[in-house]
This record gives sequence, C-alpha cells and structure tokens, in this order.
Amino acid sequence: MMLILTSFLSASAQRQVTNLKYWEFSRDSLNWTRVRIPHDWAIAGPFDKKWDLQKVAITQNGETEATEKSGRSGALPWIGKGYYKTTFHVEKGKQAELVFDGAMSEPVVYVNGRKVGEWKYGYNAFRIDITPYIHQGKENLLQVSLNNREESSRWYPGAGLYRPVRLISTGDVKIDDWGTFITTENVSSKGRAKLHAKVKLDGRMDKRMVRLTILDAEGKVKTVANKKANTDVDFDIFVDHAQLWSPENPYLYQLKIEVLASNKKTTGKETVFDDECLKYGIRTISFDKTNGFMLNGKARKFQGVCLHHDLGPLGAAVNKAALIRQVKLMKDMGADAIRTSHNMPSQMQMEVYDSLGVMVMAESFDMWFYAKCKNGYSRFFKEWADRDIENLVRANRNHPSLIMYSIGNEIPDQWSKEGRDEAEHLQNICHQLDPTRPVTQGMDRAEDALKSGFAQVMDIPGFNYRVYKYGRNIKQLPVGFLLGSETASTVSSRGIYKFPVEWNNDKTWEDGQLSGYDTEWCSWSNLPEEDFMAMEDAPYTIGQFIWTGIDYLGEPSPYDEYWPSRSSYFGACDLAGLPKDRYYLYRSVWNKKEHTIHVLPHWTWPGREGKKTPVFCYTDYPCAELFVNGISQGRIHKAKIDDAEWKVGHPATAQEAEKRAARYRLMWKDVKYTPGEIKVVTYDEDGQQTGEVMVKTAGEAKNLKLQSDRESLKADGEDLAYITVSLVDAEGTEIPNATDALSFEVSGEGTFEAVCNGDATSLESFKQPNMHLFAGKLVLTVRAGEHSGEIHVKVKDAERHIEKEIRIPVIHTN
Ligand code: GAL
Repeated sequence: MMLILTSFLSASAQRQVTNLKYWEFSRDSLNWTRVRIPHDWAIAGPFDKKWDLQKVAITQNGETEATEKSGRSGALPWIGKGYYKTTFHVEKGKQAELVFDGAMSEPVVYVNGRKVGEWKYGYNAFRIDITPYIHQGKENLLQVSLNNREESSRWYPGAGLYRPVRLISTGDVKIDDWGTFITTENVSSKGRAKLHAKVKLDGRMDKRMVRLTILDAEGKVKTVANKKANTDVDFDIFVDHAQLWSPENPYLYQLKIEVLASNKKTTGKETVFDDECLKYGIRTISFDKTNGFMLNGKARKFQGVCLHHDLGPLGAAVNKAALIRQVKLMKDMGADAIRTSHNMPSQMQMEVYDSLGVMVMAESFDMWFYAKCKNGYSRFFKEWADRDIENLVRANRNHPSLIMYSIGNEIPDQWSKEGRDEAEHLQNICHQLDPTRPVTQGMDRAEDALKSGFAQVMDIPGFNYRVYKYGRNIKQLPVGFLLGSETASTVSSRGIYKFPVEWNNDKTWEDGQLSGYDTEWCSWSNLPEEDFMAMEDAPYTIGQFIWTGIDYLGEPSPYDEYWPSRSSYFGACDLAGLPKDRYYLYRSVWNKKEHTIHVLPHWTWPGREGKKTPVFCYTDYPCAELFVNGISQGRIHKAKIDDAEWKVGHPATAQEAEKRAARYRLMWKDVKYTPGEIKVVTYDEDGQQTGEVMVKTAGEAKNLKLQSDRESLKADGEDLAYITVSLVDAEGTEIPNATDALSFEVSGEGTFEAVCNGDATSLESFKQPNMHLFAGKLVLTVRAGEHSGEIHVKVKDAERHIEKEIRIPVIHTN
C-alpha cells in the first residue's frame, strides 16, 4: 500500500519537516481504514448514553450523592483502544525526530516494531528522537497505540491522533526549537526594542556560526547578527521603530536562525547546516498593584473567554479554518483573550492566536494529586506533572500571544500545605524555563486557598466565580490584584425563550432547553452583569475569562442527569458557533470599535397573542425606545446601579440579579405579543437618535437561505466553509421556530464535513448529511479538495419541496 507523505515546509537542504497526514486506523488492530489526521475516531457517533455513563457526585457543583450522569463526557464512543500506523522515509545520514502535538490518550509510539517512546497526558506536545531506530534511505513503519479509560474526563476529550504529527529530519547539527528562546527585554520610549535570543544547538559543532536575521512582516531585513557557535549562543538584538504586537495590531516579525559554515576562502560560498524561521511578536507585559495588567505599557483588563479544545461537530480534530472562525467570532464579540481550559493548546491554535491577535492563558491541568474523575490525570500527576509543565512551556514560550501559564483549574488540593507547596513548585518550573511570564490558576474555594497560602503564592491569583467574595479576597492578597479566571456560567439555548420570564438559578425545563432571555444560571455561577460590575467598579480586578465563549461537548449542566442532553449550555455561542443572544450582551459592553443593537426575542409567536412577551435590547447606547406595530412602549435608560449593590458579600438573589441586569440591558417587561413588527430605536447621551433595529413576524416558509462564511477556499484539502442554513418566508424573514428535516449534497471539488444545529439534546450524527433545523437554523461545514474547482452545496427540504444550491470556488494559492 502506498501512503502519501506531504511535505508542507522545507526550510533548507538539510532540515525537512513532514506533516504525517495519511495513516491507517483500527479499533481492534485487525480491520484497518485509511484516515487523514487530525482525526477524532469518536465524533461520528452514534450518540448513546451507554458511552462513559458515569455514576458520580460532582463535588465541585456541591453534590454529595452519586447519580447517573449520562452526557457528561459527550455520549460519544471515545472510550477504549485505537491504533494508527503509517510509513515514512528518512534520507541517508540524517537524524530524525517525531513531534506529536497531542494524542488522545496515553500514546505509545513504535518505529519498525520497537517501542521508541510514550506519553500519558493526551493534551500535551512531546518529541521523540528516533534516529537510533530508523532505517535510513528505506521505508520505516510508525505505529501509535492509544487508550482512553472510562471516567477519565469531565468533558468530551476526543479520541485518536487529533493533532498533527510531524517528522523533522536534519543533518548532524540542528537547532533545538524547544531549547531556543526569544524574549523582548524592553522597548524604549523611542520605540527601540531590545530582544534577547538564546539559540540552542544539538550535534557536532566545529567552527560553526549562527546567524540571526530579523525581517519585518513584508520580508525586509531589519537586523542581522552573527556569532561563533558552541552549543548555546546568546544574542542581544535591537529593532528600531518596533511595531508592537497586540490584539488590535498583531504584528509579526520573521526571525530567521541559520547555522552555517563559511567556505568563503575556498568556494566563496556559505554552507547552511540548519535553519528555521519563526514568527515573533515584539511586546511587553507587566502586572502590578498600581496598574494591574499592562500590555506595551498600557493598562487594560482581560476580556477573555474560556474555550475547551473541541471544535463542536469536528470533535477534537484540530483544524486551522475552524480555529480562525472561532477567533473571529470571539473578537467580534469584543474578546481579546482566550483561556485554553483546562489543558495545553495545540501549536495550530497558538499560531492562529499569534496572527489574529488574541492573548492566551495556556492552561495545563484540571486535577493534581486528588482525582476529580476516577481515572483522570491524577493517576499520572506525581510522575509526569513536571515533564508536562516543561513541555507546555518549551513548546509555547516563543508565541507572543502567550501571556500567562495556568498550572491548574479548581484543584481540589487548594486547602492543604501539600497543595500550596505543589503550586509553588509548578510555578517555579514555569519561572525557570520562562522568567518573562507570570503564572496563575483558577481557584474555586477562596477561603481554603487563602488560608493555606495556596492563593498567595501565585503570581496572578485567579478566582473562579463568586464575584461577591472578591472584596474579601483582595484584602488577603499582597500582590494587590486578582483575576476572574472563570466567570459567568450563565446558561441558555440559542433561539429558545421561556415564559413567564423568571430570574432563576438551577432551573430546568421538560425539553432540556434553557431560556434565551439570559435569566438562568447555576448554583455556583451568575449572570454576566455581576462580572461586568466587578470589572468596572473594582480597580483591583485585572479582567475575566467567561465560561464559555462557545458551547462544548459534554458537561450539560444543569441537565447533567437528563438524557439526551450531551453538550453544554454555557456558551455565548452554541455548539455550531451561532451567537446566542448573550453574545450581543457581551458585545455591547466589550466591543468598543463597533456599535451593538440587538433585540430579543424573535417575533413569531402563534398562540401567544395578547400574552406578556418581554422585549430586551442589548446595546452600547444608553437609551432606547420600543415600538410594537408603531405604538411606543416607552423610552428606557440603563439604570445606575452602584457598586454597593454587588459588593454585598452574598450570591445574588433572583431579585438582585434582575435589578443589576438593568445597568446593562434595556428591558420592556410588560409587552403584549401581537404579530407584526417590533422596532427598537436607540439614542446617545444627548438624546440624538443613533440607530434602529426591526424584528418581524415570519410568514409561511418559502425558501432556504444559505450563507457561507467564506467566498472561496484554499485547495489544500484542509480549508473549511461554514454555511448557515435557515428557512425564510417570501420577504426573506427567517422562520425562527422551524425544525424542518434537511438533507445535503456536496459535490465537485470538496466534501461534506459535518453539520450541527446547536441543540444540546440532539442525537443526530454530526457526520451524516441530514439534520433538523433547531430554532430555525443549522450550520453545514464543507471541506475543500486539493484541486482548483468549485464545491457545489445543495440543501433540500423534502417535505416542503424546497431546495437551494450555492457554489464555492476552491483556489490554488501557490
Ligand atoms: C467550573 C469548572 C469548569 C466547568 C464550569 C461549569 O467550576 O472549572 O470546568 O465545569 O465550572 O460551570
């Protein structure tokens, strides 16, 4: 059998980086199928409550009795073993290294039948030097076996080689990318940046030279430095008029490192033994009592989102186009930071974050010595934690987007001296390997963590939820600031509205959905307003990371015991990446570049005529007036709620939550539904009209609407287009409550990849080309082929005899 190896980067004659894309895969090592990695063997389903059915008490949520939790880890078949194999070539005289960006989980790696290495944690990157085991100049066999245990995760972890595997072959001398470390020492007031580069070389070194070249984003040389090399070489380099990296201006320089010998006397040429080019952003960060967090000398607060690693219907299989879509969505909401909860990011993620401009909290663990799940990472923590932290730091420390490390999330050991000592120990490893970045972790038991000293040892004390305790916590923190490392956990379903509108925690409904009015939260969590107030009113807060930016597979709280709920309700966007109403609430506060005027609910309510149907508007403007079929329902101003309100020291009651919401939401609570149209007109502080938004009652379904997020795709076999599908009436108004069964045909230069409607209770497979609309929408994902051409996407509504087609060009870019 021929396996194709695709080389995506060939930096020099010596170094060759090969992305090992095509593999054979088996669950039983008898029946093999050809797959392309990144690959997630479980995402196609079928969904079933029997997969990883956990009978547990979730103590973090305050539970004391064990009950059946059916969708906790996604109800997908990720448990068990999986095997992958492929072949590769290495030229004669070359060294070879494998770099895994993560493998789910407990990977054991074999080359030509011999075990060459293993790792335990599925989320971490690791490298194996396979030079002693390869047959140079011949075909080599590479095999990986994986094992996922039941009750090892609190969410859907995915399964398989879900991140890239690269083969790096080099000559005798090579640059050790994980040993090489570039830092920005300072930037003068005149814009002169001083960088320090430590280049680490492996292999035989006689009379070699290392050259470092900094080029700007257009490829123009800014600085060149040469040094005779031994093993480690240190450079101080200066860049004048440095363009600084930030979320608003993610400027990246190119940094070229070459190891060479000059043969100028004999041949007049130079021989390059190894070279590498990385993208580097120049920026400074600082954290202190007076200014809080500063990026490039300017104070700002993190407007962050927590994101689990899964990409909804793609599962854990990482994909660049999917990541870009996520980041663009989050940035449009006004977010400038991502917490990779609760584990190490992929390199692909970090590259996307660098280039699109988002600040990163790179996390590591969800548990240490004490297990949160019976078979979780605590089985390995003692033996592996130091190595895991080391790889996290080494693999990521040259990324400008990386702002801080997190050594844990809600670690149960917060109360103990052992916990405190371990926190100090892990933080020290980070400091030794990277003195330029601070370390945090998310704590959920503030009193315990403050009593044991666990909180005080951290560079950045991070607290999860319980905003009302911030005022007490800060008094015991010598650093003088704190981070909302995890906030909100408000729960809602996109496009679903519950009546009467009630402000409630731990509310559940018979259909397994939650209200889009954003009035529901969990016993430990809160509505967004609490966090907004803490960020605006308390000078010692340095920002927040909301739980979560986008829904994820698993953890369907508050429906942990309700089947068929199998994915979360916490997201500002649903699992398909469609914004919920809450997205616009964040946008109205966070996005300072564009205005937001968002009105909810939809206005198609047959049967609700004359019934109370409140209307909310999320806008950055201070005031608005609502009209129902032309009749004014009054002009409302955002309420002035001062900080005495939320600093009261206890969780918000329903009444308090409702009252505080009025500082950010404009709410007409007594509106009676009559079909037609509602219009919200906004005004600025001076009473000048600034904009208006109309929502209409939909008529009968007449057509399908297909909106692609991309006008064309790259012919690389990886690129994706996300097509939002809805039903519309004759005037183009979307039918918000449609649940029609649709089917899809994808032909031409592309394939059907996945489909998702954002319904957390749906058991329809993401990987079959048919699905029901949920609250009027779904998102279809198509993958580009490897040749130029066009993808034809046809969507059919068989019952209504409606179909619609779009074509997306697929283009070769080089
Ligand atoms: C937190 C936890 C998250 C998630 C969240 C749900 O306590 O850190 O992983 O479980 O609760 O609200």
